[in-house]
Amino acid sequence: MADLTCTTPFVLYPLLVIILFFYSLNHRSGFLSSVVDDDPSCHLSVSSPSSPESVLSYFRFFPLRSSSSCLTALNNSSSEGTVVEQVDEAAERIEEGLAMARAAIKKAGEVDLHRRRDRRNGSDSGFASNGSIYLNAFTFHQSHREMEKRFKIWTYREGEAPLFHKGPLNDIYAIEGHFMDEIENGKSRFAATSPEEATVFYIPVGIVNIIRFVYRPYITYSRDRLQNIVKDYISLVSDRYPYWNRSRGADHFFLSCHDWAPDVTAVDPELYKHFIRALCNANASEGFKPIRDVSLPEIKIKYGKLGLTHNGEPPHNRKHLAFFAGGSHGEVRKVLFKHWKGKDKDKDVLVYEYLPKSMNYTKLMDQAKFCLCPSGWEVASPRIVESLYSGCVPVIIADSYVLPFSDVLNWKTFSVHVSVEKIPEIKKILEAVSEEEYLEMQRRVLEVRKHFVVNRPSKAYDMLHMIMHSIWLRRLNVRIPLS
Ligand SMILES: *[C@@H]1O[C@H](CO)[C@@H](O)[C@H](O)[C@H]1NC(C)=O
Ligand SMILES: *[C@@H]1O[C@H](CO)[C@@H](O)[C@H](O)[C@H]1NC(C)=O
Ligand SMILES: *[C@@H]1O[C@H](CO)[C@@H](O)[C@H](O)[C@H]1NC(C)=O
Ligand SMILES: *[C@@H]1O[C@H](CO)[C@@H](O)[C@H](O)[C@H]1NC(C)=O
Ligand SMILES: *[C@@H]1O[C@H](CO)[C@@H](O)[C@H](O)[C@H]1NC(C)=O
Ligand SMILES: *[C@@H]1O[C@H](CO)[C@@H](O)[C@H](O)[C@H]1NC(C)=O
Ligand SMILES: *[C@@H]1O[C@H](CO)[C@@H](O)[C@H](O)[C@H]1NC(C)=O
Repeated sequence: MADLTCTTPFVLYPLLVIILFFYSLNHRSGFLSSVVDDDPSCHLSVSSPSSPESVLSYFRFFPLRSSSSCLTALNNSSSEGTVVEQVDEAAERIEEGLAMARAAIKKAGEVDLHRRRDRRNGSDSGFASNGSIYLNAFTFHQSHREMEKRFKIWTYREGEAPLFHKGPLNDIYAIEGHFMDEIENGKSRFAATSPEEATVFYIPVGIVNIIRFVYRPYITYSRDRLQNIVKDYISLVSDRYPYWNRSRGADHFFLSCHDWAPDVTAVDPELYKHFIRALCNANASEGFKPIRDVSLPEIKIKYGKLGLTHNGEPPHNRKHLAFFAGGSHGEVRKVLFKHWKGKDKDKDVLVYEYLPKSMNYTKLMDQAKFCLCPSGWEVASPRIVESLYSGCVPVIIADSYVLPFSDVLNWKTFSVHVSVEKIPEIKKILEAVSEEEYLEMQRRVLEVRKHFVVNRPSKAYDMLHMIMHSIWLRRLNVRIPLS
């Protein structure tokens, strides 16, 4: 346990500089207090991992990709000293790079203060904006550039597909598979060529596939097996390499869109205290912490259909005030249906449980001014992205939902938020938006769409880049102690 004592302070101070910097323009006081509370001072400890036997017995079923080379490495414990030294030198270089990035981002924010009156010339390659969809366009832009320069993800090689290194590329959880494939297919500029080069470490668990292959047919919904697979994986890589222990997992992340993904870490809060979780199910009332975790957009990808496939109607052709169609999943929709479902309820607020076959879902979104995006079984809904694609202003009805990219995007400028409690007043709230305000919002919806488009390979400022940027920001906020 000697190396767990805190000889070097585990620094999170830059956090106050960077994420707060992004948030500084408009933020809730609740956020501030959560930052201050989150002080990982020296009583950090990593719980003892499961016994080596359990790791081995588990990996007998899921053999390792590189077991022989790892065994050789493990046999070489006498030379550990020099290995650690090399790692530290590399780590030092990375920390120096990150310090430079922080300084550059901060400076861009200060320059912005002088230029705020004239934002129109804040353009650069791939980035043109009036600034209004961002909390701070200049810091974001600079941060994105720094990320392109310095961000390197090392994916641990251990584990075999389909439970590791593989995820779905279609349908509602597709973002999990696309992210994984983008990083692992060897073409991404963000893929590190060695762990020494890495700014962050990716735990490549395919949560959707684990649930599909280990749980089906469902005999149990108990999360034990899922939790054990991930925990065993982490204990394996933290035994084998110095990286996890060095940061207590603060520069490690996993990513999943599955509803169950947040439960993965519930089994051992101490072990996962700093671990970055990129989740669609970003419910702040269920332990999602915006300072550490990343909210992933949920997007339903039809087979092979990436990119923007259609454009909605121009504002003057949008004949319906509001539209929603979807299953009766969860409490929020029950309330919505109770107040708005049915032909006779309201001719301006169209709410369907099952859309009649004669009607076209996409077309209705294209023709609505506002699209309702209530939570389903969990907080996120693919409707938010669908709505943006259709040029329809999203109406987010999801209490405790931490919106994707909300540390750079100013959601208030292109969406409407209605608390569950105010569902009966939806029509009144939407009618109160003036024509002028609506046109501005709708224009911004069209502008923000570029951040929600999935390209393969990924392009600057698109959804995969935005996800990387969210992870990059969380990484920027910790300084890994150098021993
Ligand atoms: C470890 O090293 C010893 C000699 O020092 C050797 O006999 C043994 O085979 C090695 N084990 C592995 C797995 O390489
Ligand atoms: C240690 O690793 C090196 C390669 O990194 C290898 O050449 C050497 O034989 C190993 N020593 C032992 C004792 O396994
Ligand atoms: C932005 O606009 C200001 C004021 O019009 C001007 O002084 C400045 O040079 C412009 N910056 C760029 C990069 O075009
Ligand atoms: C900036 O806003 C104006 C109108 O407010 C609009 O015409 C223009 O296209 C916007 N520029 C960008 C890059 O979105
Ligand atoms: C990391 O810490 C765990 C728990 O204390 C320990 O079992 C493991 O050997 C450590 N890993 C390395 C590479 O030192
Ligand atoms: C539904 O509407 C969209 C957009 O207008 C159109 O592209 C699509 O072909 C329509 N689908 C069907 C089944 O009619
Ligand atoms: C978010 O979490 C709270 C607390 O557990 C829960 O009551 C609520 O139903 C969750 N929201 C959704 C949409 O699942």
